[in-house]
Amino acid sequence: MSTQKFATNALHAGHDVKSNGGTRAVPIYQSTSYVFNNSDHAANLFNLSEPGFIYTRINNPTNDILEKRLAALEGGIAAVVTASGTSAIATTLLTLLRAGDHIVASKSLYGGTFNLLNVTLPRLGITTTFVDPNEDDSISNAVQQNTRAVFIESLGNPKLDVLDIESIANQAKANKIPLIVDNTVATPYLLNPITFGANIVIHSLTKYINGNGTALGGAIIDAGNFDWTNGKYPEFTEPSAGYHGLVYSEALENAAFIAKVRIEGLRDFGAALSPFNAFQIIQGLETLEIRIKKHSENALKIAEWLQNQEEVSWVNYPGLQSSDYFELARKYLPEGQSGLVTFGLKGGFDAAKVIADNTQLFSLLANIGDTKSLIIHPASTTHQQLSDENQETTGVTKDLIRLSVGLEDFEDLTADLKQAFAFVPKRNLV
Ligand SMILES: Cc1ncc(COP(=O)(O)O)c(C=O)c1O
Repeated sequence: MSTQKFATNALHAGHDVKSNGGTRAVPIYQSTSYVFNNSDHAANLFNLSEPGFIYTRINNPTNDILEKRLAALEGGIAAVVTASGTSAIATTLLTLLRAGDHIVASKSLYGGTFNLLNVTLPRLGITTTFVDPNEDDSISNAVQQNTRAVFIESLGNPKLDVLDIESIANQAKANKIPLIVDNTVATPYLLNPITFGANIVIHSLTKYINGNGTALGGAIIDAGNFDWTNGKYPEFTEPSAGYHGLVYSEALENAAFIAKVRIEGLRDFGAALSPFNAFQIIQGLETLEIRIKKHSENALKIAEWLQNQEEVSWVNYPGLQSSDYFELARKYLPEGQSGLVTFGLKGGFDAAKVIADNTQLFSLLANIGDTKSLIIHPASTTHQQLSDENQETTGVTKDLIRLSVGLEDFEDLTADLKQAFAFVPKRNLV
């Protein structure tokens, strides 16, 4: 494992310049397939007795560099990149679980993930109990005999709850279940969940890691620290019918999970990342450290400014002393708390909608983590299809506005919010 620091790994990890034609920038290998030396060579690649590239749905030299870089930055043993953050989550869960299994998950998840767990996976016989993981023993109390995964977001989107990963990891470990952490909002610069006991880390690369709003992508990073032979995971200890009798835990040892994700998950579900998108994401990743520091700095200043606006009834940012998560943020996010800020309007749903409709610099759209500032009123847009109860569960109140604070000048951003506030009828300010 690399001993170099974050900024160095973000620029160099995984890229062997000499074996890549002396290229200083990571090249795009825009090829679907790779010529075998002969049939025996092909057979060796398929039965994993020799490393190499087979077909871009399974692996690709550009994607391979991104995978090695992300594994280095998260402190994992290996990674697999996928077409989106959503496919990283779905591929992880479908690799681990079978009909009849159960998940314990955080209540405050990104709406798409909540829907996957709450509606789509139950159709396949996989159910979820949602809990507030920061409540004492909530994970242990929700574990059933058939629980096979614990799933959380390190910094929930959009609730911005900082989770006590160490305590959650201890409960998962005591129950012999892997802890999967979606670390998208925090990014690997601000937080490495593996150092607090996580077993699998997920990213939507679409957000801060790409950072420029140009490419979708996802990643699954394996810490290599989970014992798949503990009796609960026959998928890893019995001969795989899907891979000519391979026993993953014997053949791949601590890389059993990530190997299965690649050779069965990508093969069967097909959520491969395009090498062009991998290239775009690598450009972003190389400057993640300086961007996320600035996102965090701007977001804190905006959150402080919002606290002093008469139109605003509450502000939520884990870096504010008033936040319920301030102490946890000091432990888990001491270098910055990322770029999302939420706040409520005195005028409730209607006022929030008016503001989202009237900003000029802040773009009204359904994304986060762009260099440019973004705004959304989830209750009338991304979360409108969720029931009132499920909106509450995921942390979306009617009056909530989510900002993804970009890298623009702070004064220009506050001027934009101020002019949008002016559109709210005065009667809605009390
Ligand atoms: C925390 C989190 N995880 C996963 C996703 C899904 O990522 P993608 O849009 O790349 O599929 C999102 C999207 O907003 C997200 O915010």
